[in-house]
Amino acid sequence: MNKINVSIAGGSGYAGGELLRLLFFHPHVRIQQVTSEHYSGKFLFKVHPNLRKLTNLKFSSLDDLEACDVLFLALPHGSAMRKIDQFIQKAERIIDLSADFRLTSKEVYHHWYKRGHACPEYLNQFIYGIPELHRKDMVNAKWISSAGCNATATILALYPFYKNNLVQTDRTVVEVKVGSSEGGNRNNASSHHPVRSGAVRSFAPTGHRHVAEIVQELTFDRDITIHFSATSIEMVRGVLATCHVFLNRKLKERDIWKIYRQTYGKEPFIRLVKEADGNYRFPEPKLLIGTNFCDIGFSLDESSDRLVLISALDNLMKGAAGQAVQALNIMFGWEETTALSFPGLHPI
Ligand SMILES: NC(=O)c1ccc[n+]([C@@H]2O[C@H](COP(=O)([O-])OP(=O)(O)OC[C@H]3O[C@@H](n4cnc5c(N)ncnc54)[C@H](OP(=O)(O)O)[C@@H]3O)[C@@H](O)[C@H]2O)c1
Repeated sequence: MNKINVSIAGGSGYAGGELLRLLFFHPHVRIQQVTSEHYSGKFLFKVHPNLRKLTNLKFSSLDDLEACDVLFLALPHGSAMRKIDQFIQKAERIIDLSADFRLTSKEVYHHWYKRGHACPEYLNQFIYGIPELHRKDMVNAKWISSAGCNATATILALYPFYKNNLVQTDRTVVEVKVGSSEGGNRNNASSHHPVRSGAVRSFAPTGHRHVAEIVQELTFDRDITIHFSATSIEMVRGVLATCHVFLNRKLKERDIWKIYRQTYGKEPFIRLVKEADGNYRFPEPKLLIGTNFCDIGFSLDESSDRLVLISALDNLMKGAAGQAVQALNIMFGWEETTALSFPGLHPI
């Protein structure tokens, strides 16, 4: 089979580096160009030392981007939308990892991102990138917008219960605990090691921007409210979402199993994790480092009808690059797990 030519804009960042790690082992892909303005002309392995001896490719500048089959955009928020007209001239297919094209409404974008959208005419034209929700639309899609990492963990846990109208739609409380790589590779005062190390920092008790896409994906023509908080913890990679939902009808534990199995039973990257004993009774982000899995578990308090849904993933994988490669595989009709079969490490 002929390989397709793939380029990555923003390839010196954490998400870009993870795309490279995956795509160098993808049998249907040839990596054509990788951009960085800071490191243009330098070997990729200068920035991503794990790629040493795998490639002698060097970074290019965005200005030197050539035509390719698929362009991944791993640029900071706001960059993709400012240059989207140029990017679509270079590649017929685009997979954007930023938040620029996740939302379908420019008003909602403005509300959550506190600025106007640079090209609202493109909103609605990108497929929202969670395959478990939008797989059919991704086949042969031109443009896909990968979902946010915290949003992915939250949506995958909640989706079956919102879709089937099983929860009170104004009482859901989600707390996500996140690792430091979510912030990207630029250091700043809050990421400085003496400050960040050991911290348990409530950085978005309200107002986290991923709420916008969570609500967009779970609405199903109802008014819903998601009460969402995010806390940084001592972890490099990983998201753990603890989602408290209140059932609107009596359900037993076996019903919850059934609902998840019906929704995700055939999904290659969703695993149900709920054991009666042992260390691994619920999802644990540490075990998912480098994998494309989202693990989901739950605990039901029948006395209050509170159901706690727990999901975990690697923010740079199922929350970013892994999800994007999964989307690429679906776009081209390849086996969905291609280049994504790494099971993780244990112990780690
Ligand atoms: N980190 C995560 O967990 C995660 C998860 C899901 C989605 N995302 C999204 O994925 C995107 C990349 O995230 P990241 O964590 O990889 O960020 P990052 O580590 O900060 O990397 C950003 C990349 O963009 C390039 N860049 C920065 N400003 C630029 C500019 N003005 N023009 C051209 N290139 C520029 C940087 O290249 P230089 O070398 O030139 O600086 C770098 O390659 C973001 O939109 C982020 O929100 C990240």
